[in-house]
Amino acid sequence: GWLEMQIVVDLTRCQGYAQCVFLAPEVFELHGEEALLYNPAVPDDQLDRVRQAAAACPVQAILLGEE
Ligand code: F3S
Repeated sequence: GWLEMQIVVDLTRCQGYAQCVFLAPEVFELHGEEALLYNPAVPDDQLDRVRQAAAACPVQAILLGEE
């Protein structure tokens, strides 16, 4: 199933630290230094990893909205 989680990455804050990519590679993908692609629809088996990625980002660029 799919839970309602909304991911927004503030790309003006992202500085390419790539913690998110290491922690949730199925959701975050880094192209170059600052071109971060992400899948805003998160499979429920990825939710914890996305939360860890948000917590690990050194500049708090990853914002999560959960219902
Ligand atoms: Fe950017 Fe933070 Fe990920 S700086 S690459 S959103 S860990």
